[in-house]
Amino acid sequence: MAKYKLGIVVGSNRRESLNRKLAEALAKLGADKFDAKFLKIDDLPLYNQDDEGNLPASVRRFKAEVEASDGLLFVTPEHSRSVPAVLKNAIDWGARPWGKNSWAGKPAAVTGTSPGAIGAALAQQHLRQVLGSSLGMHLLGGEAYISFKPDLLDAGGNFTDDTTKGFVSAYLDQFATLVARFAPARPAAAA
Ligand code: FNR
Repeated sequence: MAKYKLGIVVGSNRRESLNRKLAEALAKLGADKFDAKFLKIDDLPLYNQDDEGNLPASVRRFKAEVEASDGLLFVTPEHSRSVPAVLKNAIDWGARPWGKNSWAGKPAAVTGTSPGAIGAALAQQHLRQVLGSSLGMHLLGGEAYISFKPDLLDAGGNFTDDTTKGFVSAYLDQFATLVARFAPARPAAAA
């Protein structure tokens, strides 16, 4: 069966990113529902409105990847109690030029992790405001704040705790249902 195309945007450009590890575990867990593609954001230039008339190649690639996705999963750390700059930069490029918002109407789910107790909750809340209110994405309801403990994932990138695994599995199931509302043709076409 054809699966939905999931664009995963990780809000960290760090080589050993915990959020990237989480995102990889989620992609693995949701592999029966989604074909996941990690969208590269660390080669996007710093946003500058002067460049909108002649978009850099990396920006054109990124916007095309967003537009080709049936749904977008954001997995982000929290920087200074908000959205990391590298992610906000990608979001702004995706939203521009005016009238060419690549995010509009796309289903989106938000999660993220931090070693702290509140699991990047404030960053996720700020991100939800940006994606839903400003960019017109269809946000999955609910909250998925994940505190990153050393044993969250095993060496193979699997969730070790059944409760956590059940929670994130349910979140991915709910997201697949939301995505299906906006991209119903893809699995049906392949059936
Ligand atoms: C952080 N960190 C952090 N953590 C948190 O829970 N709330 C916060 O506001 C911040 N602020 C913050 C700012 C900056 C500039 C850095 C570099 C870090 C810690 C952060 O959660 C930790 O570094 C994570 O490992 C970042 O996620 P990645 O990059 O590993 O995915």
